[in-house]
Amino acid sequence: MNTPRCDQTEAWAALRGHYEAHGRDLDLREAFARDPGRFDALGVEAPEIYADLSKNLIDTATLRFLLDLARECGVRARRDAMFRGEPINTTEDRAVLHTALRAPRGAAPFSDEVHHVLDAMLAYVETVRDTAASGIRHIVNIGIGGSDLGPQMVVPALDACAHPGLTLHFVSNVDGHDITPVLRQLKPDETLFIIASKTFTTQETMANAHAAKAWFTAQGGTDIAKHFVATTTNVGAAAAFGIATTFGFWDWVGGRYSLWSAIGLPIALAIGADHFRALLAGAHAMDEHFAHAPPERNLPLLLGLIDVWYRNFHGCTSRSVAPYHQGLKRLPAYLQQLEMESNGKRVDLAGHPLAYATSPVVWGEPGTNGQHAYFQMLHQGTDVIPVEFILVKHAHHGVRDLHGPLLAQLERQHTLLLANGLAQSQALMLGKTTGQALAETAPTASKVLDARTLAHHRTFPGNRPSTTLLLEQLTPRSLGALIALYEHRVFTSGALWGINSFDQWGVELGKALCNDLLPRLDSGDASGLDASTAGLMKRLRA
Ligand code: F6P
Repeated sequence: MNTPRCDQTEAWAALRGHYEAHGRDLDLREAFARDPGRFDALGVEAPEIYADLSKNLIDTATLRFLLDLARECGVRARRDAMFRGEPINTTEDRAVLHTALRAPRGAAPFSDEVHHVLDAMLAYVETVRDTAASGIRHIVNIGIGGSDLGPQMVVPALDACAHPGLTLHFVSNVDGHDITPVLRQLKPDETLFIIASKTFTTQETMANAHAAKAWFTAQGGTDIAKHFVATTTNVGAAAAFGIATTFGFWDWVGGRYSLWSAIGLPIALAIGADHFRALLAGAHAMDEHFAHAPPERNLPLLLGLIDVWYRNFHGCTSRSVAPYHQGLKRLPAYLQQLEMESNGKRVDLAGHPLAYATSPVVWGEPGTNGQHAYFQMLHQGTDVIPVEFILVKHAHHGVRDLHGPLLAQLERQHTLLLANGLAQSQALMLGKTTGQALAETAPTASKVLDARTLAHHRTFPGNRPSTTLLLEQLTPRSLGALIALYEHRVFTSGALWGINSFDQWGVELGKALCNDLLPRLDSGDASGLDASTAGLMKRLRA
């Protein structure tokens, strides 16, 4: 695909001019005052999600130029190539077909293979979830990166529909302090270990798999075939490890896009076959939206474009994600891999260094916790950081027979949660002038400092941008749509930047150097090492 570099397009030049003339100084408060229709004009309906884009530093001209940029950069052709299964991951010569994992039977490439594994996995899931017969009470997923973060994020998010008799655990770190507190809670007869690794070679996962096996045998466990399963593309390596039950997937499923594949086994065990299919269906609905919605109403496309606007024109180096739902507590960590491993690249598809910035840092915590930690910096720090609020209209606590004072209290708390989320995006935008601060009394403020100095400390610049994503309820279907929305948004910004969003060479060097250092830590051989590494190694061995 021969498309121009984004910074050499006419649209980029137009955006640069627009930024200098209007974009840099756009004031959200004035924009709302000028245009009573702004909220409606910048609201986008997508499957399961309503997005309020109106508190972003954009206007109709910004969007027009951004959509021109998407056209000139060939985002549409690249999107269609992905859906068709062309090898758009050029450095590994692989197709990128996570969308095929959630497509109905017959609707996407590799459909027979996909549905064969899905049916087999979901049939197996129901046998384990029959806990009276299976005896399984604890499920331990051992995996890292994409073989951990997706299930680890989704399982607590869908806690309201989880099997009440199964406890899910996630072990990822090679640090033994991760697995040992989990092992302390287990009995071999009640435990199912899932060894989740696309390659089945990942150092951390293999180390923890061996630890689990050693624990299982030492505790008198005998039936490895029943208590260990693997989810991998490397079926042979799983068999060599002694695992009889394996659910496979394919090299066209990227690790960070794999929760829809067999890597989703812990999710399916937690929520059951029907809910897992609903998760897939929600993602598929978003795939259809991305594939067919007109550009000006296409939510993943618009979010990816706005990301580029902030990164390359406003110079924002990070974006904060604040899910106002405790179940989404691991969403920021999941998004860090999705976005930063995908778009943290410094060369274009032809290998030429880029002249513009790519992935921002993505970070965050669930609301309201984040408010009592880093929101201070969002409101009054020196950097402008776009924030993404995720609000869920209806709570679903998954507590049976909820009634009386507890129900009333929890409903109240949910309203409080929503009010907090709304208030934060409002405060970021509105700010508070020094005049307003002067007119107020602040009970805890110093009685000796002069009023004007105090008012400067209590001034908020405002005009800080945010997006609000609104879900009716957090269900398997809406969560599937939300995750797919993020996947396609990352695809969009990666396509605009002209990079390969589907490889991850940046993790290789550290792995190789670790393999070199491992025997040196045993032997003390520091020959050829830099002085810092040699010195630290000496101290670690002393
Ligand atoms: O961190 C690098 C990486 O390759 C990720 O992309 C991947 O999700 C993770 O390691 C785990 O790999 P595997 O599933 O092969 O164990």
